[in-house]
Amino acid sequence: MFITLEGPEGSGKSSQLPPLEEYLSNAGYDVLTTREPGGTPIGDQVRTVLLDKENTAMQPRTEILLFQASRAQLVDQVIRPHLEKGGVVLCDRYADSTVAYQGYGYRRSINEISAIINFATGGLKPDLTILLDVDVEIGLTRRQEGGDVNRLDIFELTFHQNVRDGYHRLAKAEPHRWVTIDAGQSPKQVQKELRKVILERLQLDN
Ligand code: TYD
Repeated sequence: MFITLEGPEGSGKSSQLPPLEEYLSNAGYDVLTTREPGGTPIGDQVRTVLLDKENTAMQPRTEILLFQASRAQLVDQVIRPHLEKGGVVLCDRYADSTVAYQGYGYRRSINEISAIINFATGGLKPDLTILLDVDVEIGLTRRQEGGDVNRLDIFELTFHQNVRDGYHRLAKAEPHRWVTIDAGQSPKQVQKELRKVILERLQLDN
């Protein structure tokens, strides 16, 4: 089963994943955790270019294509092989991030973006996507306090608001694939809900 975690900045995805992976492994699942951009040696090199604050000249189309380059490599080298042997893949961001950030964030054609994503992924879609939803200002403040600010974090507030609205639209359009969790709650509560939602889906799948 292919499970992705999505959310605006500071939604806490990255800190939720290690305990989640441990929990699912202990429950007997063959779990592989990965992230975007990156997750492969080639993808990690692309990640460095994408997130470098010095790259202020980066054009939106360049950015879109670099995210897809990292994704294509991750799908073929890591995700598909693990799914093919019956494992569970947990991915910190995937194609919906491109639709939310580069599509809704930059107000570009969603159809055009979807076609490029389709090429990059070979049509691979997640079985389950969890939106860790958090108020944009709270999320950005968490980010700044954590000291882990990247090139996209420093975009203006309306950009991040558009991203969050984009996620809401995506979740509404495909309610069977998306589950939304309130990431404004304590990390402990978020972890509890994540475990419940994912375990239920995995058991249904068996
Ligand atoms: P990262 O430091 O991994 O942030 P986070 O913990 O929020 O996931 O940086 C990833 C950044 O790249 C984040 O700002 C979201 C952005 N992004 C896109 O804009 N489009 C994409 O397709 C992906 C995968 C990420």
